[in-house]
Amino acid sequence: MVNGLGVNLWAWWRQTRAALTQADQQSLDWLVQELTGLDALDLHLGYLREPVIATQGHPTDVATLASLWARHCQERVPVQYLAGRTSWRDFQLQVGPGVLIPRPETEQLVDLAVAAARPAGLDRGDWLDLGTGSGAIALGVGRELPRVTVHAVDRSPAALTIAQANARNLGLTNRIQFYTGDWFEPLAHLRGRVQALLANPPYIPTEDLAHLQPEIAHHEPRLALDGGSDGLDSLRVLVTQGWRYLRPGGLWAVETMAGQPPYVVDLLRATGHYRDLRTYTDWAGQERFVLATVGTGDRTSS
Ligand SMILES: C[S@@+](CC[C@H](N)C(=O)[O-])C[C@H]1O[C@@H](n2cnc3c(N)ncnc32)[C@H](O)[C@@H]1O
Repeated sequence: MVNGLGVNLWAWWRQTRAALTQADQQSLDWLVQELTGLDALDLHLGYLREPVIATQGHPTDVATLASLWARHCQERVPVQYLAGRTSWRDFQLQVGPGVLIPRPETEQLVDLAVAAARPAGLDRGDWLDLGTGSGAIALGVGRELPRVTVHAVDRSPAALTIAQANARNLGLTNRIQFYTGDWFEPLAHLRGRVQALLANPPYIPTEDLAHLQPEIAHHEPRLALDGGSDGLDSLRVLVTQGWRYLRPGGLWAVETMAGQPPYVVDLLRATGHYRDLRTYTDWAGQERFVLATVGTGDRTSS
């Protein structure tokens, strides 16, 4: 006996998918997989037709899926917000309006920082995740480096509520301290003590925001995206203030938009407080990450 619900779901998925662009097919597949618990191969092999499998542990019926998909198509709500979660590194994160959906390339920032920190003996003590959003970077670091305490700051109370829920879900509340505030403002007690500073700040130039795809422009928080007129407003704060919080030899590591690393390197160099400036490409071959080490010079100058 074939489960009727499964047949309906599969038929609905096949019919809906046939009329979509490749990008929308990917979104549909992601949503269906996320809410049914099936993987891509299951879907394409038609396991939705099998009894029980499609709905076991995932009480999703065709009406729910169809109405979520309609919201995606009509309002361009990101499918991750519709599902209320996303996968990132080897874990799941709760996401929703008010928090940026963490992107795959940001996983690389964690990998680069961890790889730089271990041989330098920075893989313990106090780390910063500035503009933590969903808590992705803080949680990624917390899981990789068991002797690190991450201090995670965001100006958005809505984002911090989600970040704290994610820390609870991953059993990391005792290793991450959350602060509401403006960049370094809540962190005075950590001046000169921090081993590593990580950030994926807002870096999109204001006038480019309107040209982003509607899922981003109309739904993801502007506070998470808007980097000011040249996109570098937040990066300037992280450069000019970061060295004061890092201990000598501490690691400064940020994600930027493609095209920004040379400007960030110039800003770092101009302070006279950083050395070993290096940039890295993302998986698509675009220069997106800047790392630096704090020098051992005078810490009182501006
Ligand atoms: C691009 S999002 C990054 C979120 C998360 N770290 C990630 O990688 O998915 C930038 C984050 O910075 C936060 N933010 C913006 N301005 C801030 C400020 N002045 N102080 C602290 N956080 C800020 C935003 O609320 C947002 O969560």
